Amino acid sequence: MSDKKRILSGMQPTSPRLHIGNYEGALRNWVELQKTYKLYCCVVDWHALTTMAEDPNQIALNSREVAKDYVAAGIDPSETVVFIQSHVKEHAELHLLLSMVTPLGWLERVPTFKEKQQTVGAERESYGLLGYPVLQAADILLYKPYGVPVGRDQAPHLEISREIARRFNRLYGEVFPEFVNLIPEDESRAKLPGLDADDEGVLRKMSKSYDNCIYLNETPEETAQKIMGAFTTPSKMRKTDPGIPEGCAVCQFLRIYSPQWQTQWQEDREGVRGCMQNKKELIEALNETLRPIRDRRAAISDDDIEAILAAGAVKAREFAACTMDDVREAMGLR
Ligand code: TRP
Repeated sequence: MSDKKRILSGMQPTSPRLHIGNYEGALRNWVELQKTYKLYCCVVDWHALTTMAEDPNQIALNSREVAKDYVAAGIDPSETVVFIQSHVKEHAELHLLLSMVTPLGWLERVPTFKEKQQTVGAERESYGLLGYPVLQAADILLYKPYGVPVGRDQAPHLEISREIARRFNRLYGEVFPEFVNLIPEDESRAKLPGLDADDEGVLRKMSKSYDNCIYLNETPEETAQKIMGAFTTPSKMRKTDPGIPEGCAVCQFLRIYSPQWQTQWQEDREGVRGCMQNKKELIEALNETLRPIRDRRAAISDDDIEAILAAGAVKAREFAACTMDDVREAMGLR
């Protein structure tokens, strides 16, 4: 086994394609971290069921497509363990055992639960949805990781995973080591907005549900067309009107993707540059950045990803099975 420290992370396959918000907020960080750490890179298909239980037939396909996006983005399957959660049944067993030591009150207080409760509606609010953080704790603790690289939005989930581990250790003995949050350093990338604004003209996050995404795996023409329609400073009707780059989606993207963004912002503000020029330069810069990812993506076949995921499941199971031996031993289950 490699002597690198282990880290673990995952994404839900609620959609067949990842967008650049997923990339900037998490995936990009994973690609960097896999050089230093032994990365376990999971597609958490059971988590996707917490909101898609009525229509589960898309999930298997989505999982393969998400795994292709991982590899296209630079996850190296010869170093990193890329796998699907449901292929490693130990996740379910640990979830069950952890559920016995997790007080209901902790789960009811998780902020993401209250949000999801509202989006799924009262009649679809399941036991599984409430237990979402317990399943995530199982994902993490099975691999006894040194750290978990996630976006800031996942901090509450990591905190409850930690609480569950401490409680387990207190009851049955030290099985799970402490782990750290590996939040990306560059927060401006992590807060990449979508292409549009809300009713008040305020930029909002990039999300499939708002239909305001640039996908890793779309054509350069699609990207160009979306950027042409992106939100800019509403009061900047002519090139000579002053722009407000802080509130303009195109300027926010330039900041990430264009080395000349500071000049572009200043000229936008001073009214010596128009939104059209910004858009054209952004299209150029963004498509250039995404080109290697898109080229790699096009070269990954269904058979390729199936082989990567099969090998990944074997390696993940190997570690997870050892942890489960420790867990059963600690609890006296035999
Ligand atoms: N809750 C995470 C998200 O929505 C996904 C996830 C599930 C995860 N299990 C995990 C992330 C374990 C890190 C580690 O993004």
